Amino acid sequence: MTQQGHSKAKLILIAVVLVLLSIALRLFLPPSVSSSAQLSDSPAAIGRGEYLVIAGGCISCHRGEEDEESFVGGLALETDFGTFFAPNITPDMETGVGNWQAKDFLRALKHGRTPSGSFYYPAFPFRAYAGLSDQDAVDIGSYLMSLEPVSNSVPKAQTPAWLNRWAMAGWNVLADMSEADAENFEDELVQRGAYLARNLGHCGECHTPRNAVGILDANREFAGANLGEEVIEAIDAAAMEEWTATDLDLFLLLGLKPDGDFAGGDMNDVIEHNTSKISDEDRAALAAFFTRHNQPAEAQ
Ligand code: HEC
Ligand code: HEC
Repeated sequence: MTQQGHSKAKLILIAVVLVLLSIALRLFLPPSVSSSAQLSDSPAAIGRGEYLVIAGGCISCHRGEEDEESFVGGLALETDFGTFFAPNITPDMETGVGNWQAKDFLRALKHGRTPSGSFYYPAFPFRAYAGLSDQDAVDIGSYLMSLEPVSNSVPKAQTPAWLNRWAMAGWNVLADMSEADAENFEDELVQRGAYLARNLGHCGECHTPRNAVGILDANREFAGANLGEEVIEAIDAAAMEEWTATDLDLFLLLGLKPDGDFAGGDMNDVIEHNTSKISDEDRAALAAFFTRHNQPAEAQ
């Protein structure tokens, strides 16, 4: 090889190393969150946060095993990838989120990253919450900080040996955390419904089928899935054809289906703790989104 060829190869090598390094840094450094939203102890912020926590279904996972009304954590969540324990999210200094700042809530909810820069497992539905507005994520934090601190340590996640937190860096890339599904709808009610369904209410976490590594199949959004033994019906446009907006609204309020059946299983929990407690406007927004504008996204 000539002298020139040598230095050219060297330059290419350096360039490749730099590109790889910058990719690695982007993956492993905690995401920079530049938001002006701050934690607040104002009743307005706490009130907004309390509502968002209801519409976000947080209690379904973060409640205590015995204490069903508080966010002390400890409930075991069985998945195909192991058993996960939703942590204590009361503001206890030792075992909860007592020393969290706004940026920690933003990183956790919107990026799936721990305060120290490690990774959460997606049993925490942060892929859905990635689309939350910064203000909403921080208001959620303000509410959690207003709660009574309770000391409760939860067990470590039980995962197969190959599945560690750092492997989640790859998961986050595959799950395309960079893109927070921002589809725009002309109708404001449908737009709000999309935010509730896709982000806060994370309906797809159960109703959208997953691939082999547990990432939701965006091309079959809401097409139905299996959760262990449980069969979860499709709620995409085709499945909702027979439902009117009023049918869906009533179902999300009372669990009553148009055919007279009642919801069972995990949906019962969603209705009890989430959709029956949100405002009439927000329930109407969900109903509008699912019955009017949720076309399967095949054409992309
Ligand atoms: C489907 C179950 C589920 C739902 C719903 C859920 N979480 Fe979690 N959450 C988890 C799990 C599991 C973890 C821990 C993941 C891990 O171990 O990596 C977690 C972790 C967290 C953490 C990190 C706590 C810490 O100590 O590091 C916060 C904060 C949090 N969740 C807040 C929320 C909020 C706020 C909501 C509602 C908007 C919510 N979660 C909804 C399951 C859930
Ligand atoms: C924790 C998992 C989970 C989440 C989250 C969830 N669902 Fe469900 N859903 C289920 C299960 C399980 C069923 C089946 C219940 C049954 O067998 O009666 C169901 C059933 C339904 C049905 C009835 C479908 C039919 O044809 O009978 C509708 C409608 C529905 N869900 C809407 C929603 C909406 C809207 C959201 C988000 C706000 C949501 N679900 C979030 C688990 C979930």
